Amino acid sequence: MMRRKFVAGNWKMNGNLAALAELDAIGASLEATVDVAIAVPATLIHPAAARAKFPIGAEDVHGQDSGAHTGDVSVPMVKEAGANFSIVGHSERRQGHGETDADVKAKAEACRRHGLDAILCVGETLEQRSAGEAEAVVTAQVLASLPDGAGGDWLAIAYEPIWAIGTGQVATVADVEAMHAAIRAALVKALGEETGQAIRLLYGGSVTAENAPGLLHAAEVDGALVGGASLTAAKFVPIIRAAIA
Ligand code: 13P
Repeated sequence: MMRRKFVAGNWKMNGNLAALAELDAIGASLEATVDVAIAVPATLIHPAAARAKFPIGAEDVHGQDSGAHTGDVSVPMVKEAGANFSIVGHSERRQGHGETDADVKAKAEACRRHGLDAILCVGETLEQRSAGEAEAVVTAQVLASLPDGAGGDWLAIAYEPIWAIGTGQVATVADVEAMHAAIRAALVKALGEETGQAIRLLYGGSVTAENAPGLLHAAEVDGALVGGASLTAAKFVPIIRAAIA
C-alpha cells in the first residue's frame, strides 16, 4: 500500500505572532509528494491558518463540544479558528494532564464528528522499554485510544517514545521499524486489512534534518511528528525534503 509521506510539526508552548513568518518560508518550500502540517498553540491558530499555505492544527482539543471546562477548547472552536486537524493524546498531555486512553479516544472522535483530521500519539517510557514492555504498552495504547470510525482518510498515529522527546536521544531505525510493524499488525487485526493498512504511522522524538533521511524511509514509517525542529523553516524544510520519495 502506497501512503503519502506526512511531515507534521508541533510547536508545543512556543511561538508568537512574529514567529509566524516562519510559515511563509515553509510554505514556499512545499513538495508535491509530501503532506505538511503544523500544530500551533490555540492563540495562534487563527493567524497561522490565515497565513499558511498548508494545514494548521491544534495541539489538543476537548472531547466535548462545549460546557463547563475552564481553560479547554473544543473541536468546533479550533475549527472556527481555522484548524484542519488536531494532535490528540500527546505524551505531554497524557503525563502532564492525566489524560487516559478513553479521553484520547473521545478527543479523536470529536475531531471526526466535526470533520477534522487527527494525529493520535502513543509512546512508552524508558522504564517500560528497559523492562521489555514497549511493544505491549504501545499497542495497548493504540487499541484503547483508537476512535470509532478510524480510517486513513482522517487519522494518523504518531509513535513518540517519551524518552526520545526533546532529549536529542533518537530511537534507532531498527527500534522504530519494529514498533511500527507491531502497531501496523494491531491496526490490521482491529480494523481489517484495508483500513489497517491505510492509516499513516509517524515517528516523533528528536527528529532533525540529520536523522530524518534514515527515519523517513524506514519500513512502515509514513512520516514524522517534529517538535523543536519545526519551529524554524531552516530546520523544518530539510525534513520535508528528506521525505521526498
Ligand atoms: P521533539 O522533536 O522536540 O523531540 O518533540 C517531539 C514531539 O513531541 C512532537 O510531538
